Amino acid sequence: MGFTKRIVVTGGAGFIGSHVVRRLVNRFPDYQIINVDALTYAGNLENLTDVEGKPNYRFEKLDICDMEGLKQLFQQYEVSDVIHLAAESHVDRSILDPLAFIQTNVVGTAALLNTAREAWIDGFEGHRFYHVSTDEVYGSLGDEGFFTEETPYDPKSPYSASKASSDHLVRAFGHTYGLPVVISNCSNNYGPNQFPEKLLPLFISNIVERKALPVYGKGENVRDWLYVEDHAEAIDLIFHQGRLQETYNIGGENEWSNIDLIQLLCATMDEKLERSAGDSAQLITYVTDRAGHDFRYAIDCSKLKDELGWSPSRQFEQGLAETIDWYLSNQEWVNRVRSGSYQDYYEQQYAGR
Ligand code: NAD
Ligand code: TYD
Repeated sequence: MGFTKRIVVTGGAGFIGSHVVRRLVNRFPDYQIINVDALTYAGNLENLTDVEGKPNYRFEKLDICDMEGLKQLFQQYEVSDVIHLAAESHVDRSILDPLAFIQTNVVGTAALLNTAREAWIDGFEGHRFYHVSTDEVYGSLGDEGFFTEETPYDPKSPYSASKASSDHLVRAFGHTYGLPVVISNCSNNYGPNQFPEKLLPLFISNIVERKALPVYGKGENVRDWLYVEDHAEAIDLIFHQGRLQETYNIGGENEWSNIDLIQLLCATMDEKLERSAGDSAQLITYVTDRAGHDFRYAIDCSKLKDELGWSPSRQFEQGLAETIDWYLSNQEWVNRVRSGSYQDYYEQQYAGR
């Protein structure tokens, strides 16, 4: 079957990538979706068992820093488009091991950009390189204000600095070579399949196991939360209709201080686990703050709403309840992804805090 597009989705075995792959495979049978993932600790093909048998889905295990492997991949599939999500994505890990973030997020993105440039050199018409990035590149806000697409970059963690570097490389390839690029910068995602090192899945698992809930600092930091499927919908829209060489901010218009969010999580979990009210909140333990902890992220996503008609659809309390239900019914998934190496990381991250 001749496919109308042959799209490489990098990082498709991860949290957001798996939702993007599922959406594209199911919605566009005339596209071939090639999931390219190195399967690091965060990548799990179990996230995609429901689509792995579909004729328009392929998986290729490959590190995006492997330039020879990328070249062969582009030749083999005659890749028409890239949606790039592969990354090291956890701020705390970037503080413990920054160079791994430079390698994948900066060197890997450069390798992918250069491979696309060389493969598509005969004409960029009909091609698109979509880079998925984060609002953390803009730095940290005080109590007021929002990040717009014009906010100057001011990354403050090794993770956000590596993502900012990758965004700059994408824009530079667009500007210098005319590579058809588009970038989106999104706020914090939540939902099924998120690796249980990020705040919500970690705390859901800890509540189930009656383990301490390590709240960094005073818990006053603010994040804007978006349901992962709303992000996947926005990516689908921007991939198809976003203007080339443009940037789109994506956000949930849903700001929570960490402690308010954790209190809501505890109350919801008490109900679901039939524990008495206030039980789970007793697990809250204030620990040493994250080094350089960004205070607040908040996104102005009016460009995406006005230009492409997108808006976040999942009401937060409902999305949170669905996410908790997913984790409660998938405890085996949680146990399997928490490998030996994750246990080492947990000890290093939380010992003595
Ligand atoms: P994740 O950590 O769950 O998944 C990352 C995936 O990339 C994994 O499957 C991993 O195996 C793969 N990967 C890592 N290094 C690789 C390499 N060198 N070669 C090939 N594959 C590699 O991440 P996520 O939370 O799904 O985030 C996906 C993307 O979205 C990232 O680029 C991240 O910066 C961005 N983003 C995430 C959030 C969020 O809240 N999670 C918000 C905004 C933007
Ligand atoms: P996280 O899920 O790591 O996302 P990010 O740092 O990219 O926003 O953390 C969300 C917020 O929760 C952030 O302010 C840090 C805080 N946090 C804790 O208080 N304790 C924890 O154990 C973790 C993982 C995060």
